[in-house]
Amino acid sequence: NWTMETFIEKEIARIREICGPKGRVIGAVSGGVDSSVAAKLMHEAIGDRFQAILVDNGVLRENEAAQVKKMLSEDLGVSLTVIDASDKFLDKLAGVEDPEQKRKIIGNTFIHVFEAEAERIEAEAEKELEEKGGEAKGKIEWLLQGTLYPDVIESISFKGPSATIKTHHNVGGLLADMKLKLIEPLRELFKDEVRALGRLLSIPAHLVNRHPFPGPGLAIRILGPITREQVKIAQQADTIYIDEIRKAGLYDQISQAFAVLLPVRAVGVMGDKRTYEQVIALRAVTTEDFMTADWFVFPTDVLRRISSRITNEVAGVNRVTYDISSKPPGTVEWL
Ligand code: XMP
Repeated sequence: NWTMETFIEKEIARIREICGPKGRVIGAVSGGVDSSVAAKLMHEAIGDRFQAILVDNGVLRENEAAQVKKMLSEDLGVSLTVIDASDKFLDKLAGVEDPEQKRKIIGNTFIHVFEAEAERIEAEAEKELEEKGGEAKGKIEWLLQGTLYPDVIESISFKGPSATIKTHHNVGGLLADMKLKLIEPLRELFKDEVRALGRLLSIPAHLVNRHPFPGPGLAIRILGPITREQVKIAQQADTIYIDEIRKAGLYDQISQAFAVLLPVRAVGVMGDKRTYEQVIALRAVTTEDFMTADWFVFPTDVLRRISSRITNEVAGVNRVTYDISSKPPGTVEWL
């Protein structure tokens, strides 16, 4: 009989067995509940033979890397290495508009950054061994990913009209040339189960209840080409949006909320001048499992405040719209 307690025990035993007495694991942490729970589980299983890493891909939320580092150390007791690879990612993304292409670039670059980091950590350990002696550390053979069941079925085994809906970049199938082996302790779980697991592992509610944030980050929320300027606009709009949702006490009623930067310009007026600027679409959904979703009904005054703050505070935006599409036929993200 399956319970979350027995799941934890079995999974920890399985991880220890897979890794052996010396094996080391590096893990991608994003600040989302999935990777945080996976990291906590790994830390419980093999302690500091697990190294958590956050890759700043240049399309994170504003201040995200610093916030996640703080959260992981304070709430999980896991130390996090942040690698700033934003130039590398943004250079490769320059001029790319196709959503799947964006995902592939981010997924592949991400793996290369990880492999380079694994090599760097191993070289450092070897140097330390030469200089100071002591016992040799094991090799880094594994890459931890917080892949969930819906990610697996939507990108690999979804056989609907024999098409992939979206290749979620954190799913194994995409990473054909990777040297590190994938370890995915959550791949049989749904989101609500991961949250329950997080609570059992004593992860605080503010982390467990964080809205999901996709691996490809703002790259799939900036429609059209990605530039540093566009990233900044998307970040500023996102910060205001989430801030107002929290202030209104609505964060926990919404499953996921984010701003999308549209690749169109609209005419507007400011003072006595005509403007011709970009448009932000707001998305907020409620859902059990992210396979289907409804759009969230905001109190009008909250929408009014969000809209007026975005158009006043974010340079380059003169119009805000609200997305009233459910999934299906829409998906949660626009790309
Ligand atoms: P969709 O847009 O497929 O989103 O309805 C469902 C959930 O999945 C997230 N999502 C992703 N997560 N890599 C991720 O790690 C991706 O490529 C990706 N695409 C969508 C989305 O944010 C939502 O929570």
